[in-house]
Amino acid sequence: MSADRLSGAAPRTFALAITGASGALYAVRTMAALLERECHLEVVISDYGRRLLLDELGERAAVPQLRAFLIEKYGEAAARGSFEVLSNKDLGATIASGSHDCEGMVIVPCSMKTLAGVAHGLSRNLIERAADVMLKEKRRLVVVARETPMSLPQLKNMVLCAEAGAMILPAMPAFYQMPTSLDDLADFMAGKILSALGLAHSLYPKWQG
Ligand SMILES: Cc1cc2nc3c(=O)[nH]c(=O)nc-3n(C[C@H](O)[C@H](O)[C@H](O)COP(=O)(O)O)c2cc1C
Repeated sequence: MSADRLSGAAPRTFALAITGASGALYAVRTMAALLERECHLEVVISDYGRRLLLDELGERAAVPQLRAFLIEKYGEAAARGSFEVLSNKDLGATIASGSHDCEGMVIVPCSMKTLAGVAHGLSRNLIERAADVMLKEKRRLVVVARETPMSLPQLKNMVLCAEAGAMILPAMPAFYQMPTSLDDLADFMAGKILSALGLAHSLYPKWQG
């Protein structure tokens, strides 16, 4: 049992949103990596995010089975933390308020539609509202944008988010760590996200020069 659990300290809490861009593998790897570090996750999944989980990872990754899927794929360590899935329609959920104790948020992957909503502060759903809360409270917001090629409005929306304080962390895995599988690429992206959220990890070998 960790020192935090023994001392009764509250777990580190993050919001994690999954939207309908390609890259569901990045989302589940990031979830598992945060859970392995005993975090509590407040998870919101858009309708198209749910569809992409199924399309790209199969029925086993359907939201009601997500916990079992993560443990089966990434091992028992993924059971160390906890998570709850909040409705994207519920603008009265915990993470819709700045007074809630949630230290940061990642949107992984982030569609161009959700990017636009965040860039313009629309708060049309819980994902956009929680992102808006992160920006107004000056907390960490990591936007794992995915589209190719990108239009000028999409590029401008990334600039708007960056100017407002978000970190744009595009779904662009590197190849210098010599990946041999899709899981290696997902490890790299999850590692970058954990670093952006301020968490130590060893998800990929650090560059030694
Ligand atoms: C199979 C599939 C793949 C998609 N991939 C992307 C993508 O990579 N990036 C993107 O911005 N939209 C992508 N879309 C379109 C979004 O899902 C769509 O714009 C949706 O309205 C996004 O809504 P959300 O942000 O609420 O999830 C994809 C849709 C489908 C069905």
